[in-house]
This record gives sequence, structure tokens and C-alpha cells, in this order.
Amino acid sequence: MAEDGWHLACEATAIPEKKGFKVRIEDRDIALFRDGDHVFALDARCYHAGGPLHMGDIEDVAGKTCIRCPWHHYKFAVGTGECVGMGRITTNTGVKQRRHRVKVEDGKVFVKVNTSGAFPSDRYYTPQMERLFRIP
Ligand code: FES
Repeated sequence: MAEDGWHLACEATAIPEKKGFKVRIEDRDIALFRDGDHVFALDARCYHAGGPLHMGDIEDVAGKTCIRCPWHHYKFAVGTGECVGMGRITTNTGVKQRRHRVKVEDGKVFVKVNTSGAFPSDRYYTPQMERLFRIP
């Protein structure tokens, strides 16, 4: 890690089109998504029940690039982390997945972990949950 908190996460080309890519930075599973030349980072464990967001599919929802959680199909705008609903159900609209800062330099993706505030996805990053989620 550099002194300024940025971590080399991966090569940009490692992030597949229309899918996510999981990295582990500062003991946190983080999902990276690519939308053209832009890369976005969200907590990899869905705030709803801990589902693996990096294994979801990217889709467009009303002009927003979103990741659809593979477990219960909540959809999150990759640029903001905002839940945009679940199909026609919109009860969770506006709840935010924790988002992290990203920069791309010379084809390399760097992530700065966002530890500010509290987000619903934090409950899946406690020491107890780490034991559950780290099962091979
Ligand atoms: S765990 Fe992601 S929608 Fe339920």
C-alpha cells in the first residue's frame, strides 16, 4: 500500500465485461466493475444477506449501469452503490452499498478503501462474519 492509502488491485483487463471481479484489500472483499473506461468498487458482500455481488450480472436499469446480486436479484448502480430495486419491487430503493474510491493508471486499477460512515453492508465484515465468509 502506498502512504496515501491507494492499493494496487489488479490490471484493468482482469475485470470482465458485464461481470464483477473480487479483490481483497485491507481484509475486505471488494467487487470491481467496469463500465467502458471507468472502474467502480463496491463492497463485495451484498447488504441484503451477504450475497457475492462480484458474481452477479451487469445490466442497464433506466440508464444506470447496475450489478444484479445473484442471490435475490437486488440491483445496485455501480457508480453510486445505490439500490435501484429488485425487478418491479422498489422497497429497498436508495439504500446504499459501501462504495470505494478507484483510479486507473497505465492500465492498473488502484483502490482506496472507504471507511467513513456506516453502511448496511458493514454487518457482513465483522470478525464473526469473516469466519463464515472465508470458508473455502
Ligand atoms: S443477498 Fe443480495 S439481494 Fe439478497
